[in-house]
Amino acid sequence: MSTKRRLLRWSEIRPLIGSTPRKGNRLERRLQRAFTIGDLRAQARRRVPRAVFDYTDGAADDELSLRRARAAYASVTFHPHVLRPVAEVDTGTTIAGRPSTMPLVLAPTGFTRMMHHAGERAVAAAAARAGLPYAVSTLGTTPIEDVVAVARRPEDVWFQLYVWRDRARSEEMLSRVRAAGVDVLVVTVDVPVAGRRLRDHRNGLTMPPSLTARTLLQMARYPSWWFNVLTTEPLTFASFDQRAQSLTEIINGTFDPSVTAADLDWLRQQWPGRIFVKGVQRVDDAIDLARAGVDGIVLSNHGGRQLDRAEPPLQLLPQVVDALDDSVEVMVDTGVQSGADVAAALALGARAVFAGRAYLYGLMAGGEHGVDRALQILQSEFLRTMQLLGAGSVEDLHPDMITLAGSH
Ligand SMILES: Cc1cc2nc3c(=O)[nH]c(=O)nc-3n(C[C@H](O)[C@H](O)[C@H](O)COP(=O)(O)O)c2cc1C
Repeated sequence: MSTKRRLLRWSEIRPLIGSTPRKGNRLERRLQRAFTIGDLRAQARRRVPRAVFDYTDGAADDELSLRRARAAYASVTFHPHVLRPVAEVDTGTTIAGRPSTMPLVLAPTGFTRMMHHAGERAVAAAAARAGLPYAVSTLGTTPIEDVVAVARRPEDVWFQLYVWRDRARSEEMLSRVRAAGVDVLVVTVDVPVAGRRLRDHRNGLTMPPSLTARTLLQMARYPSWWFNVLTTEPLTFASFDQRAQSLTEIINGTFDPSVTAADLDWLRQQWPGRIFVKGVQRVDDAIDLARAGVDGIVLSNHGGRQLDRAEPPLQLLPQVVDALDDSVEVMVDTGVQSGADVAAALALGARAVFAGRAYLYGLMAGGEHGVDRALQILQSEFLRTMQLLGAGSVEDLHPDMITLAGSH
C-alpha cells in the first residue's frame, strides 16, 4: 500500500525548530549541558592537566575499593510506594544539630586549589548557596578563616583533622580552627600511612606541582589552568610549609601513624564541639567508638584511596545502623555519584552522605559555577528519586524500599 505524501510549508516547520533563547555566558551554557556527575567528569578531564585529573579521579593500587563501592550503589533495587502525595517533598534534614537542605556533606579534600585556583573558597560559596555543610581538609590550600568568611553560616564549615606527629602543632591548629568559629571536627582515621596511588606515581605528581620538562609541555595544552596557578596566590598548604614533595612523603612524614582510640580522650580535651570519626570500616570499631562517646561516624574507605579491596561502605551500613543507637550519627561515603545514591544510603539508615569527587569534578569543570552545577544535579536527582519512591520526607526513606544485591 503506498503512502500518500504532501509538500510541507515553512509555516508548519518553523514552530518545530524551537528557538531556545541562549541563557548565561559560555561557561554557564557549557555547564548546563552537563546532566549528570559523569558529564561533569568528562568536562573536567578536558580542562585540567592529566596529573591533576588523575589525582582527583584515581584511587589506590588496582582501584578495586572504589569500583566495588560504586558497584554497590549500582546494585541497589528500589521498591517504590505509589499513590503517595509527592507534590510537595521536603528533602531537608538535620546534620550535626543544624538544618541542611539535603542529607549531603561536601567531603574534605586535600589540595583543592590545584583542581581550580578558586579552590576552597569556591566550594564554600557553592555549599553555602546550596545550604549544605562543607568539611575543610587539614591538607587544605586556603586558610580556615578565609573559608569561614565565605560561608553564609560559618557553623556550616567543618574541619577535618589528621593528627600530627607533633601534638603541640595539632593543638595549635585546633585552637585556631575553633577560634574561626568551627564546631564540628571530623577526625580521619584511615590514613596511618599513605595509600599507594599509582596514577600519581606514574605521573610524577608532587605537591605543589613542580615545573619539569613534562609539566612545561603540559602548559601548552592547558594554558589557562597554568596561567591561573602561576598568577594567583601561591599554591601551598594553608596549615604548614611545604617544599614540593609527593603526597606519600608529605603524609608519612607529617601525620602520626601511632594514633589509637586512647587519643580520643586527648582530642576531647582539645575540642569542646562535636567529634565525628571518618574512615570506620567495621561494626566492632563503630561500637567501640560509640562507647568512647563520639558524636558521629563516617563509614568510609576514603574514596578507595587508602586500603584496596576494602568492603563497600554502603554494604556495611545496615549492620552498623542496627548495632548503634540514635545518639550517634551514622554517615557514609565512597562512590556517591548521584542523588539516587544518596536516597539509597538514607533508606539503609544513614543520617547523611559525604561526597568528594562529585563536587571536585564540577570544580575542575568550571570553578564555583561548576560546583553549583554539581550540587544542583545531586539535589534535583535526590528530589526526583524521593518523589518516584513515594517519600514525602527523608524520614519516609525506609529499608523496605531497597534491596542491595547479596542481601536478603
Ligand atoms: C582528591 C581527593 C582528596 C582527598 N583528600 C582528603 C583529605 O585531605 N582528608 C580526608 O579525610 N579525606 C580526603 N579525601 C577523601 C574524601 O573525604 C572522601 O572520603 C571520598 O572522596 C569519598 O569518595 P567519593 O570521592 O567517591 O565521594 C579525598 C578525596 C579525594 C577524591
